[in-house]
Parts: sequence; C-alpha cells; structure tokens
Amino acid sequence: MVQQWDDTEAKDFVAMADIVIPDRREQFEIVVDLVPFGRDEEFVFIDIGCGEGLLTKVILDRFPKAIAHASDAAAEMTSKAATLLAPYGERAKLSQHNIHDRDYLNSIVTGQVGFITSSLAVHHCHDTEKKALYKSAFDKLSSPGAFVIIDAVKPASKWGIKLNKKYWRRSIQQQSIELTGNEEQYQQYKQIPATFYDEPQEEDKPATAINNLRFLTEAGFKGVDYFWHKCGFGIFGGYKGLRHIAVLEKE
Ligand SMILES: C[S@@+](CC[C@H](N)C(=O)[O-])C[C@H]1O[C@@H](n2cnc3c(N)ncnc32)[C@H](O)[C@@H]1O
Repeated sequence: MVQQWDDTEAKDFVAMADIVIPDRREQFEIVVDLVPFGRDEEFVFIDIGCGEGLLTKVILDRFPKAIAHASDAAAEMTSKAATLLAPYGERAKLSQHNIHDRDYLNSIVTGQVGFITSSLAVHHCHDTEKKALYKSAFDKLSSPGAFVIIDAVKPASKWGIKLNKKYWRRSIQQQSIELTGNEEQYQQYKQIPATFYDEPQEEDKPATAINNLRFLTEAGFKGVDYFWHKCGFGIFGGYKGLRHIAVLEKE
C-alpha cells in the first residue's frame, strides 16, 4: 500500500517542528554548508518531501543562481510551500509526488541535477526503498554533485533508544523555553520521544546510521559521512566528485 501523510499530519508537523526537532535551523545551515557549489554558481537541486519549503528557501537564499525542484506528497504542504517560495518566481518549482513511486526523482525533473537534499522524509521509506533511492540519487546527480539528508536515525541498541528519549525530551524543553519563554509547548510535546520509539507509526521506518552510510557507499557516493547528530536526528550524505572541500575553502 502506498503510504503518505494526510493533510492533518502535515499541519500538525508545521505547528510543532521548531520546538520538537533539535536545532532545526542549524540543521538547515549545515546542509547549506555541504552544498558542493560556490555562492555564485548555477545549479539545480531537488528537495525531497519539502514540506512547507523551509530548507528549499534557505538554499535559494544562500545560492542566488540556484534553481529548486521542491516536491511533497501532501497538498497541504505544497500549498504552504507555494506561498513561502512565491517570491523566488521561476527559481522555485513545486510538484506533488510520492517518494514510493517508481522513478520518483525523474518524475520531479528530467535530466541531471547538482544537489539533492531532504529533511525528515526519507525515513518514510523502508530500507530496501532507501537503498534504491540512494542509488537513483547517485545516478541523477552530475559531478560535482551531492546528496545530503537530514533524518531520524534508528538507534542500534535499547541503550541508544533510552539515551535519545532522555536528550530529545530535554531538547524539547530547552527549545520551548528559548522560543516561547515558557514550558507550555514542552508540556504539550514532551511525550513525543517516548511515543516515537515505543509506539512507532507505520510510516516511520528510520534506518540505523551505519545502514544509511552503507547504502550511500554502495550506491557509489564518495566522502560518505555522518556530519552531525543529536538525540536521534542525523545529517549524512555523500558526494559524486569531491570538489566540495575546494569550494568550502574558497569561501
Ligand atoms: C516531517 S515532514 C518534513 C517536511 C520538511 N522537509 C521539513 O523538514 O520541514 C515530512 C514530510 O514528508 C512528506 N511525506 C510523507 N510521506 C511522503 C511520501 N510518501 N512521499 C513524499 N513526501 C512524503 C510529508 O508530507 C511531509 O511534508
């Protein structure tokens, strides 16, 4: 059965994301830092499961000549993204596609792209699909190119789960205070870490860090790395051509 978020789930996520997801804005900045192009270079990128378009927007702001193809399965999300990305005109192209569909990336845009990214959407694929997605991302990328993913990562042991629950909950509390000045949102969302691990939704199928890195390596990526991690969320990816180091040193 094809699974995707319904519009209510999408709306709920938008309301809570900055409180519940650890260091969300910093996560986006890290993705931007890993783009293998200079600030004034032209390149095309795909944002898989773009949601309301926040990550797409951050990349478009940093790279004024970049062109985005942002895609999501939920109409509620693509409609929010259309509003957020309207000021970018032709630089932001939106579409509605299902990550489980065959030839998913090619249905978003034909031809090769320089960068593929995703925030918190790839864990909706089971591991066999992730493997296929990472391979199709490798084929879809030009060289230089890169695939960088923010996602929930499955702990390798019960101890890892315990640790994630403790520190994720603490992060929700801190962000509630920092962003709203009180613990109201923390009280509302503090059960999420326990629920995520103890009563997982059918659509949540994160892979372990090691499996994600293995799938990327097997797909052909170079410089495969786990760039950041906090209480069960990771940023990982790989390159087609290793030009990013030279680009970053130049900036
Ligand atoms: C946790 S949200 C993340 C949204 C956005 N990337 C962000 O970080 O703000 C997960 C997104 O994946 C999308 N999604 C869920 N199932 C999907 C599917 N089968 N195909 C494509 N997108 C899907 C949801 O609609 C939602 O926008």
